[in-house]
This record gives sequence, C-alpha cells and structure tokens, in this order.
Amino acid sequence: MAGNRTLTIIKPDAFGAGKAGKIIAHLEQQGFKVLAARVMRLTDRQAGEFYAVHRERPFYRSLVTFMTSGACMPMLLEKRDAVAALRQAIGATDPAEAEAGTVRKLFAESKERNAIHASDSDDNGVREAAFFFPDTDVLAAQG
Ligand code: CMP
Repeated sequence: MAGNRTLTIIKPDAFGAGKAGKIIAHLEQQGFKVLAARVMRLTDRQAGEFYAVHRERPFYRSLVTFMTSGACMPMLLEKRDAVAALRQAIGATDPAEAEAGTVRKLFAESKERNAIHASDSDDNGVREAAFFFPDTDVLAAQG
C-alpha cells in the first residue's frame, strides 16, 4: 500500500439509508480515487474476523450484529498519505465529536452506527485491503 492506499467501508447504516453516492462524491472531491469497490453483506464470521482486534471490548457483539445487519460497501482508495488523509476526512469515531465537514459529522447516526470505517495504519490497510480484495491482479493493474 506504500502510504498511498487505504481501505474504507461504507457501513450498513449509511449504505442502507442511500448515502453511499454522497459519501463517495464527498471523498472524490477531497482527492480520493476509488481503485476497487464491492457491495456485500458480511457474514457473522467475516465481521467477527474483521473486528477481531475489538474482541474483548464491551461493544464487540453489538458491532458485529450491526455490521451484518445489511449490505455494506468496502472500497480501496488512493491518495497521497492515504491513511492519515482518510482518517482526517471521516472525523472522530463519535459523530458528536467529529469536526464539521467530516463524513461522520455529515452522515453518521451514533458512535456505533458511524457511517464509515477507515484503516488506522498502513499495515492494517494492507491487511484490510487483502481481506476484501484478495485478487492481487486487480490491485496490481491499478498501478
Ligand atoms: P470503526 O472505525 O469501524 O472501528 C471500530 C468500530 O467500533 C467503530 O468504528 C464503531 O463503529 C464501533 N465502536 C467504537 N467504539 C464504540 C463504542 N464505545 N460503542 C459502540 N461502538 C463503538
């Protein structure tokens, strides 16, 4: 990923409410390029594995239930210094604490139903991108 790619997920709250188009437009306006995207409904096993780092947290079961409640939209994004840029663009986990103009301030419902996920490091970005986009030919073809 070399600093220029990151993984995002438009979560079931936002996707189900028809906000995906606006969120993608918002990110594109900020210079992110969509390299790959898919629409899918996570299984309990997939959501549990994706969020395994939070397994001991009190909200883990609720988070997995939420993330499997409907379709979501994982996307591989490209921009210079992508991880930091995307985390700035989406804002704080809790929309009540997110800065004006961020995706979560504009589109999120609550701390759990917070519209969008973003990788928190380059290493996790690589791992998360491989989780949803294991076809390395597709990734290589994007340069
Ligand atoms: P995300 O950036 O995808 O990473 C972990 C997710 O857990 C987070 O967004 C929220 O959806 C959820 N989350 C984090 N903290 C809490 C909390 N205190 N209560 C409920 N959900 C949370």
